[in-house]
Amino acid sequence: MSEAIAVMDIDDDNGNNEDEKSVEGKNVASPADAPDGKAIPWVEKFRPKSLADVAAHRDIVDTIDKLTSENRLPHLLLYGPPGTGKTSTILAVARKLYGTNYHNMILELNASDDRGIDVVRQQIQDFASTQSFSFGAKASVKLVLLDEADAMTKDAQFALRRVIEKYTKNTRFALICNHVNKIIPALQSRCTRFRFAPLDTFHVTERLRYVIEAERLDVTESGLAALVRLCTGDMRKALNILQSTHMASQHITEEAVYLCTGNPLPKDIDQISFWLLNEPFSDSFKRIYEIKTRKGLALVDIVREVTLFVFKIKMPSDVRVQLVNDLADIEYRMSFGCNDKLQLGSLISSFTRARSALIAAAQ
Ligand SMILES: Nc1ncnc2c1ncn2[C@@H]1O[C@H](COP(=O)(O)OP(=O)(O)OP(=O)(O)O)[C@@H](O)[C@H]1O
Ligand SMILES: [Mg+2]
Repeated sequence: MSEAIAVMDIDDDNGNNEDEKSVEGKNVASPADAPDGKAIPWVEKFRPKSLADVAAHRDIVDTIDKLTSENRLPHLLLYGPPGTGKTSTILAVARKLYGTNYHNMILELNASDDRGIDVVRQQIQDFASTQSFSFGAKASVKLVLLDEADAMTKDAQFALRRVIEKYTKNTRFALICNHVNKIIPALQSRCTRFRFAPLDTFHVTERLRYVIEAERLDVTESGLAALVRLCTGDMRKALNILQSTHMASQHITEEAVYLCTGNPLPKDIDQISFWLLNEPFSDSFKRIYEIKTRKGLALVDIVREVTLFVFKIKMPSDVRVQLVNDLADIEYRMSFGCNDKLQLGSLISSFTRARSALIAAAQ
């Protein structure tokens, strides 16, 4: 068994120099740091540094925190939709176990690395089978972090089964993925599973308020509500929209947020839905086409938003079923890049038919 010595690296290259930043005046003169504060995207700048910073998922994070503190960490499988804090949680665990120089103590492989069966056999096995000396680390176990594990080939996953078992004594594996059904059952059963659900409105709002305060932004309440609505529980998306809207306009309002993302404003959707439900075919076509061109809206966004509107209004269920089915067909065809004008015609036709059905039902 060979021995690997983890060398302390004072130059933490992942922008994790926050610890030094607190030393007053120390990096004011540092030319490398000055532009950094602005250049770093907010998703990275505000990536939770510790487990306590991770918003939502309190029960999961507390459990992992407790297990980490007691040095009883099991193999982990974290899964859930993008931007919910899976990678951040594991990096916080690594930081807690090994301090800020955790990069030397973990083997981190993600989808951008080759993770075929050879890598599992060679690199992971080499890392897992060596002993590390760490200075100041609180844990004796090493961590193999397999991010985006659902992109690993089946063969590599099969090879990993035995590796996990063989090196359990001194190595913990953390698998992270979006689609848990792409991880073979045998691997799932070797890990403790935690599902990271999309963040709820409360936690997204709270985290956004924190960033808004830290960056001293001027955001209206309706602007904040629009950010929360558009991100659909994806914190990364929320921060990205916030940052790009901030670059486009100093004053962040609901309108600015919608304009920046290119999403149709709720009032535009109300207007379009009104035309669809009340105007004759040709007028509807003309008006929607005009607003679509003037505001640069994508038909697929209109269809998606109008569908939500259809769910909200009152109508007999058979009419609704037919209409939603038609809208789904349009959306499907749009994904192949069909002609916009024709699909817009199809959208209006679907509503015309629904209107006839409504009139027939009323008689
Ligand atoms: N629970 C959370 N609390 C605070 N910030 C979060 C949370 N989830 C995500 N973020 C923000 O979003 C960014 C991306 O999060 P992270 O990389 O952890 O997502 P992920 O779940 O690994 O997503 P993916 O599946 O796409 O890899 C973080 O840098 C952080 O700024
Ligand atoms: Mg991730």
